[in-house]
Amino acid sequence: MAEESSGRRVVVIGASSGLGRCIGIGLAERGHSVALLARRKDRLDRAVAEAGDGAVAVACDVTDASSCGAAIEEAAAGLGGIDALVYTPAIGHLSRIEDTSFDSWQGVFATNVTGASLATAAALPHLKAAKGVAMYLSSVSSSETPPWPGLASYAVSKAALDKLVEAWRAEHPDLGFTRITVGECAGGEGEGLTGFADDWDGELLGDLVGSWVTRGYMTGALMDVRQLVDVVDSISRTDASVCLRSVTVAPRLVTPEELPVHPDQQGDQR
Ligand SMILES: NC(=O)c1ccc[n+]([C@@H]2O[C@H](COP(=O)([O-])OP(=O)(O)OC[C@H]3O[C@@H](n4cnc5c(N)ncnc54)[C@H](OP(=O)(O)O)[C@@H]3O)[C@@H](O)[C@H]2O)c1
Repeated sequence: MAEESSGRRVVVIGASSGLGRCIGIGLAERGHSVALLARRKDRLDRAVAEAGDGAVAVACDVTDASSCGAAIEEAAAGLGGIDALVYTPAIGHLSRIEDTSFDSWQGVFATNVTGASLATAAALPHLKAAKGVAMYLSSVSSSETPPWPGLASYAVSKAALDKLVEAWRAEHPDLGFTRITVGECAGGEGEGLTGFADDWDGELLGDLVGSWVTRGYMTGALMDVRQLVDVVDSISRTDASVCLRSVTVAPRLVTPEELPVHPDQQGDQR
């Protein structure tokens, strides 16, 4: 029987909220040494306290090349090297495509695409030394459904991220580069809950959400974030003989009767 491999030194970017936070803490629980990066250092400090001994918190803005480079170096120094990089940051402005401004497009691409490449470049010497792996959270809305109305810049940026992962693999085939296509997931509790839609305009959302449901993009099914953590854990442990190029982690479709009932809707059985 194969021996369980020991924990890896993993940098998780976007670990202050939602899926990234759950991944960072979940990897620590599964025996990895983790460095948790994002802009909100106070949140990272709380995540590190949950992750336990050996975890480090490093402030990082992926839209700033010098911040990104310095943060990766600090993370590598704290962990004693980097075996795996997990890139989770993304923003998604809710706006109709004709209303999406230059600044909005630029901000979305800086966070979701360019930042991923800058972070990978900064981590490259460490990943080379470890013959390591890099993973990037993408979305079903870039590859498995048409773009959701109102989230055009997000879907287009994730399609660019998907190609970015291939570009890195093409130039550095000695490393593992994995696209993790993610379906709907609320994340965990407290600060582990996704904050992705926090700044969306409620009225516009109300106008758009019906089209997401009737087109079958949004089914109401959510996956358990621990399943995603298990996948990231498994990829982190792969050795230099393998490259796992792409994996989709998405909820199974359920019947309407099986959908979880939101507390606000209890008693409303229409
Ligand atoms: N939740 C879902 O259902 C779902 C579905 C498909 C795909 N995904 C993907 O999963 C990933 C995580 O989504 P989520 O729902 O967990 O979102 P979230 O709760 O909004 O978390 C986003 C994370 O990105 C970080 N971030 C944003 N801008 C950054 C910057 N400039 N520099 C450094 N970090 C930055 C945020 O931290 P700071 O603000 O502290 O910097 C935060 O930790 C995204 O890539 C998303 O596209 C999620």
